[in-house]
Amino acid sequence: MLKETTDQPPTKGILLSGGSGTRLYPMTLAVSKQLLPVYDKPMIYYPLTTLILAGIRDIMIITTPDDQAQFQRLLGTGEQFGVTFTYRVQPKPEGIAQAFHIAEDWINGAPCALILGDNLIFADGLRHMLRDATQRSHGATVFAYQVRDPERYGVVAFDEAGRALDIIEKPVTPPSQWAVTGLYFYDGRVCDFARRVRPSDRGELEITDLNRIYLEEGTLEVDRLARGCAWLDAGTPDSLMQAGTFVQAIQSRQGLLVGSPTEAAYRMGFISHAQLLETGTRMKKTPLGQMLLYVAAESGPVVV
Ligand code: G1P
Repeated sequence: MLKETTDQPPTKGILLSGGSGTRLYPMTLAVSKQLLPVYDKPMIYYPLTTLILAGIRDIMIITTPDDQAQFQRLLGTGEQFGVTFTYRVQPKPEGIAQAFHIAEDWINGAPCALILGDNLIFADGLRHMLRDATQRSHGATVFAYQVRDPERYGVVAFDEAGRALDIIEKPVTPPSQWAVTGLYFYDGRVCDFARRVRPSDRGELEITDLNRIYLEEGTLEVDRLARGCAWLDAGTPDSLMQAGTFVQAIQSRQGLLVGSPTEAAYRMGFISHAQLLETGTRMKKTPLGQMLLYVAAESGPVVV
């Protein structure tokens, strides 16, 4: 695997939170899906935490025109997490790969990760997996996860040696149980490749077609998430409920935070101990605030 060279610009990150959330009507008639609660946090906190754990500090948040102001109210400039947010709109939901048209001038040839605003990933060693993905200077990395209902997703076909042969979007007859998650890492050519993608039969610029360009070039890495990992998408009433129950079970059992961008930013050295204390104190009436204060007390002041 090729390693990052010193002249490679830092990886940027896109949090894609467009879409109309029709599978969650009427909850999403007035509120963006990615702002709905997953237990004790807005949904977007979880994928944001994943980008922070990947070491990404320059993040574009893409929303519908109607929802942008609310995302700005929730997340601000990014200073509270030691990152920089840039906001853009996706006027119409015309496919995930459209994000690379919207962000092209901002990406400006840098490597770029993309995560869907309703994707929650929890894994032991996630930070290392993410670091490996950002350190690849050539090609793309996607993650595959074994699911019971692969026909809902992009699905990977493997050959006998376990190499990825193809990715098929929402196949009627899935070639495997391995779904592609909504977290993608691309090298600096991604915007050029995205321009080659044509609308699919459902009229969308499919992320699967972009991934297939890398696959055909022989530079797509498909990392399979182990069975102990959890990948949840919170796009339907059942999966939203399951995601909330999962977070609640882990947090109350272990006393550890799941999907806290503040904690992740602190552990990554993006924010100071004082900033962690400040956020914890501001939210001290909530279990989340108390857990942040616990993290602050346990780790003591550190110089960052
Ligand atoms: C999208 C992608 C699909 C991927 C899924 C992950 O599906 O098109 O390949 O497996 O996200 O959440 P959609 O959310 O458009 O149904």
